[in-house]
Amino acid sequence: MTFPIHRPRRLRRNEALRGFVRETRLSASGMVYPMFACPGTNVRKEVSSMPGIYQQSVDQIVEECREVAGLGIPAVILFGLPEHKDELGSEAADAHGAVQRAIEAIRKAKLNLLVIADVCLCEYTSHGHCGVMKDGDVLNDPTLVLLADAALSHARAGADLVAPSDMMDGRVAAIRQRLDENNFEDVAILSYAAKYCSSFYGPFREAAQSSPQSGDRRSYQMDPANAREALREVALDLEEGADIIMVKPALPYLDVVQRVRERFDVPLGAYNVSGEYSMVKAAARNGWIDEKRVVLEILTAIQRAGADIILTYHAKDAARWLKNC
Ligand code: PBG
Repeated sequence: MTFPIHRPRRLRRNEALRGFVRETRLSASGMVYPMFACPGTNVRKEVSSMPGIYQQSVDQIVEECREVAGLGIPAVILFGLPEHKDELGSEAADAHGAVQRAIEAIRKAKLNLLVIADVCLCEYTSHGHCGVMKDGDVLNDPTLVLLADAALSHARAGADLVAPSDMMDGRVAAIRQRLDENNFEDVAILSYAAKYCSSFYGPFREAAQSSPQSGDRRSYQMDPANAREALREVALDLEEGADIIMVKPALPYLDVVQRVRERFDVPLGAYNVSGEYSMVKAAARNGWIDEKRVVLEILTAIQRAGADIILTYHAKDAARWLKNC
C-alpha cells in the first residue's frame, strides 16, 4: 500500500525538515574561480559578454584573489593574454608572461588559495588554434612539446596544479614527464579530459581573445553527440597520470558527468563555461529570471550529477549567497 501510508510531502513541510534530508549540500569549498591575466599595470577591463568578469593586470588579479580567498573559495584558474601572438604561441611558456607573473604574485601575497594554470596555446597563437598548424591541420605531436614547455613554466612560477585544455592526444603524459624530469612531481594535473567542441565557449573567446582565425576546433575537441567516447578519453588521461579529471561544458553534459562519476573513483570537476554564465546574466538583466535562485539551482544540479569540483564564473556570488542563506 502506498498513499495514505506514504506521504513524501511529510519531509517537505518546512525548511528544517527539508534541510535535514537534503542530499546535495552546495558549498564554496569545491568551487574554482576563473580569471584572465593581461599585460600592463592597473588594467581592469570588463568583458562585454560576461558582466562582472575582467581582463586584469597582475596587480589587479592579486587584489581580486584576496577577495576570492576571503569568500572561502579554495582555488582560481588563470588564463592569459600575451603581448604578442605568433605561429607557435611562444608566450605561453614565457617566464615573464602575465600568467606566470600572476602566479608568482599570488604566491608572494601568501593567500590561502590554490593556483591552477590553464595550459593551452590558443590564447597565444596568431591563428587561434590550440596547437601547431601546418597546411590547415593542427599537428598533435609537435604541440605536445610546447604544452609541456608551458606547463613547466607554470610549475616554475609556483602553480599548484596545471590544467591542459587543448585536447591533444598524449598531452597528460608529456606534461607529467616534463614536470617529473624537473623535480615538480608534486604539481598535480587537472585534465580537461572530456572537452567538447561547444558553442558555449563564445564569450570566453572574447575574454581570452582566442577565436580561431579560420576553421573550428572539431578536429581535436569532442563531438557533442558522444558520451561513450568521453569515458575512453577519461580512461586514457588517467592512464597517462591525470590526478583530477574534468568534463566541459557542465550543464548540457550532466549525463557525461554522471557516467564519469559512476565509472571512475577519482576527483571529478565540471566547467560551468562562459556561455552558460552569459545566458544567466543576460536573462537576469532582463528581469526574466531570479539570478540568485537560478545560479544556486544550476550549481546544485552540477554537484548532484557527481562533480566534486565546479569551475564557475558565478563562484564569488555563489559563495556570498551561500554564506547568507
Ligand atoms: C582554451 C580554453 C577554452 C575554454 C577554456 N580553455 C576555450 C576553447 O576551447 O575554445 C573555455 C572556457 C569557457 O568558455 O568558459 N582551449
